Amino acid sequence: MNKLAILIASAAVILLAGCTGGSPAPTIDEVFQTRRSVRAYEPGKVISEAEIRDLVAAAQNAPSWANQQPSKYYVALSQEKHDAVLEMVGGNKDRVANASAYLVSTFETSKSGFFRGQQVDPIGDGWGAYDNGLSNAYLVLKARAMGFDTLIMGMRDPEALRALFGIPENETIMAVIALGYRAEEPNVPVHRPLDEIVKFY
Ligand SMILES: Cc1cc2nc3c(=O)[nH]c(=O)nc-3n(C[C@H](O)[C@H](O)[C@H](O)COP(=O)(O)O)c2cc1C
Repeated sequence: MNKLAILIASAAVILLAGCTGGSPAPTIDEVFQTRRSVRAYEPGKVISEAEIRDLVAAAQNAPSWANQQPSKYYVALSQEKHDAVLEMVGGNKDRVANASAYLVSTFETSKSGFFRGQQVDPIGDGWGAYDNGLSNAYLVLKARAMGFDTLIMGMRDPEALRALFGIPENETIMAVIALGYRAEEPNVPVHRPLDEIVKFY
């Protein structure tokens, strides 16, 4: 009888721990405040394909020009692709060498900003880049919400990346996003005074 009582009590403790255990999900403001460009990663940390699928699925909620959804991702998970990408990010190499994965973000060219093949306004493929930036913003914020860190890298060799992943010619290669766990607390940049960037009328 005593043994049964101990068993039930242990099960209750395990259940309770399961319900209350772990850190609570961060608020959206905490995600915004703690998402920073991270330039030093913890070595030996794995982020799974399933977790990266969650990130990309979150990014699919981003708005896009006429819902064209032009953004695509090429993910380096294997050691071979990891090592190869590291040689294609210029001066970022040392900053992201220990990241768990790299995501190459592209957008399908002449899609957003185009209607029946015709450019609709002077911005043209700027809308594709705009959509890709929104998609990447969703992705890096979701990453932070999941406890990961990121560095968006514009310093990269697009043609070497195109060859490595077989990226079609009709896609414009934008950034490489390093994904991992911060090894040190990143600097928080100084932001411009709000009144310099917003005017109310
Ligand atoms: C399009 C883009 C390209 C960037 N390229 C690089 C890069 O190649 N290397 C790097 O260290 N940081 C890069 N950054 C990170 C910025 O320097 C960083 O976002 C900025 O300093 C603000 O810091 P925070 O992200 O921590 O708020 C890039 C950011 C963006 C949005």
